[in-house]
Amino acid sequence: MTLAAARALDAADGLAPLRARFVRPEGLVYLDGNSLGMLPADSVAASADMVTRQWGERLIRSWNDGWIDAPARIGGLIAPLIGAAADEVIVCDSTSVNLFKAVVAALRRDPARRVVVSEAGNFPTDLHIASGAVGCVPGAELRVVPRERLAEALDGDVALLLLTHVHYKSGARFDMAEWTARAQAAGARMLWDLSHSAGAVAVDLNGSGADLAVGCGYKYLNGGPGARGVPLCGETLAG
Ligand SMILES: Cc1ncc(COP(=O)(O)O)c(C=O)c1O
Repeated sequence: MTLAAARALDAADGLAPLRARFVRPEGLVYLDGNSLGMLPADSVAASADMVTRQWGERLIRSWNDGWIDAPARIGGLIAPLIGAAADEVIVCDSTSVNLFKAVVAALRRDPARRVVVSEAGNFPTDLHIASGAVGCVPGAELRVVPRERLAEALDGDVALLLLTHVHYKSGARFDMAEWTARAQAAGARMLWDLSHSAGAVAVDLNGSGADLAVGCGYKYLNGGPGARGVPLCGETLAG
């Protein structure tokens, strides 16, 4: 690889013009979008408008001007990125809180199934949250196994398989359709954590038949520090 060849690849890159839409500190090569995405340039004026005009001037009227609908409206914009319908995605709470809610909802579906399965290498927060959630449901249990033993862990007691689609350290990706089908064939629901997928790789939740998913807004969706999480509820858990 030569500098000229690299520049030729850059020149032919269809995504290259999008760089100009981000605030980029001079000389910095930033590869940490998996932790905090860069600042979209349009966000500077939008944030100032939110504070000075919408909050400062419009005050309570801003709820009716669009604030109240923002979770569903922004969810609808994210939906095509993750293979969901616009009315299936809502932006609220944090990834961890949404995970907790989804695990408890899945456990409450069928009192005969009390086990949540996940992989030992999952993001530590997911395991802490799953552990806390099973502790709130009488008789529930978290079964954590190595990645290569997941298939055999899916027995008739399992209510939910919880996996992170793209691994936060290795980048390894689960086949979403395959693992969703495996969980459902065992009678369990499937919950995907899309924190390292949404906005970075193609995701097809409905095409894969996924039941539940959560993700986060501040990595590849560039929502800024503290950006809300993104839970999705499939039809099988609606209501
Ligand atoms: C895969 C994964 N799950 C869960 C979380 C937790 O997100 P939060 O602390 O915003 O709730 C993160 C955060 O980095 C994550 O990468």
